[in-house]
Amino acid sequence: MESGKKLCIVGGAPLRGTVTMSGAKNSAVALIPAALLASSPVVLDNLPSISDVHVYVHLLETLGAKIAFEDGTMTIDAREVVPRPLADGKASQLRASYYLLGALLGRCGEAIIGLPGGCNFEPRPIDQHIKGFEALGAKVTNEHGAIRVVAKRLRGARIYLDVASVGATINIMLAATRAEGTTIIENVAKEPEIVDVATLLTSMGARIKGAGTETIRIEGVQHIHGCRHMIIPDRIQAGTYLIAAAATGGDVTVDNVIPKHMEALCAKLIEMGAVVQEMDEAIRVVGANSYSSIDVKAFVYPGFATDLQAQMTALLTRAHGVSVVTDYVYSNRFKHVAELQRMGAKVRVEGRSAIVMHSALHGAAVQATDLRAGAALCIAGLMAANGEQTDIYGYEYIQRGYEGLVDQLRSLGADVWEQ
Ligand code: EPU
Repeated sequence: MESGKKLCIVGGAPLRGTVTMSGAKNSAVALIPAALLASSPVVLDNLPSISDVHVYVHLLETLGAKIAFEDGTMTIDAREVVPRPLADGKASQLRASYYLLGALLGRCGEAIIGLPGGCNFEPRPIDQHIKGFEALGAKVTNEHGAIRVVAKRLRGARIYLDVASVGATINIMLAATRAEGTTIIENVAKEPEIVDVATLLTSMGARIKGAGTETIRIEGVQHIHGCRHMIIPDRIQAGTYLIAAAATGGDVTVDNVIPKHMEALCAKLIEMGAVVQEMDEAIRVVGANSYSSIDVKAFVYPGFATDLQAQMTALLTRAHGVSVVTDYVYSNRFKHVAELQRMGAKVRVEGRSAIVMHSALHGAAVQATDLRAGAALCIAGLMAANGEQTDIYGYEYIQRGYEGLVDQLRSLGADVWEQ
């Protein structure tokens, strides 16, 4: 029944040591297409070497961009880019390829992209992206499953998002950067990755105000140029290691983080009984022998991140009492629950909540169905009874978002290998 590449983990070892975080995946997959807007090279520092980034390199090269990527630094020269249709293939493997719609619309006035791809844990519509493009004057059509956007000229508009979508906020921002006049986007998402994209675009000559608040205002400009930009650290990668530290009763310092981005998670770890020490650019978590049950509500930033919900569910099998994990961002992001059950977890789904009871986990063969479900299974594998092996199939999903996972876990004392 299991399929895909396999990651093997032997349970029981508390994680101890320090790991350094890479640049944020969800920033990277927006910053790379943003570089298409520039008339001279853009240099991005601290990019993670993960499969989503490699897929994006391929997509940009197909469009005619010249890319060099070495030691985390990527140089993107988009001077000769043409809006070649990317109707299927790699584009449809990667959900974030939707950013090519906004970036190419801004740059060339046209794009054809095959969607969707990536983690399909539930249907994820892009109606708000389309609403934004149309408000800017684009015509959006469905061409045999691929989305085509085209506009002779983009004009600034006032756009209210019905849901505070990260992707729609960034995508509309990318296109509006080159629109004539002023665009005001209301009820936008406030995630740090949005601020990171706005920072890059501003360094490229765009005029953007309000990123990180509920309203973003963009004055369109004619000319967007290259620049050098350092991507923010990956708060979800960091959160995954901090949860793993608590889950194994270990002592882990996660370096290269922005502690402000981690507040919701740290508050919950403290509430359940872990020791959390915050430093300028690092966070240390010391696990406890026993934890209290807690309730977690995943919400848009600055709420608890939905991308850490599955990992937290694995950890909460160690808490005494009943914990309730509710996801207010996605209504059905619970594919990890059936796999955790195979490992002995007493957890069930009710509506948009996972109800988690204290349970001892054992090794098992399990299937990662998406990136964060896979991360949760890694944590569960580390928590399994001493010496018991967990085989996680579908390892390729995990490789979409965690740079050097095996090496980093080994450096913390875990017994883990890929097969
Ligand atoms: N939504 C709509 N219509 C839209 C767009 C979104 O109804 O046009 C709904 C979605 O169905 C969902 C909610 O709004 O229920 C939020 O979706 P959002 O658009 O914010 O998600 P996204 O931009 O597609 C990004 C991350 C996800 C992360 C979410 C929420 C990237 C590439 N992906 O997705 O990350 O879960 O924001 O924070 O930035 C991951 O890293 O594992 C991951 C899935």
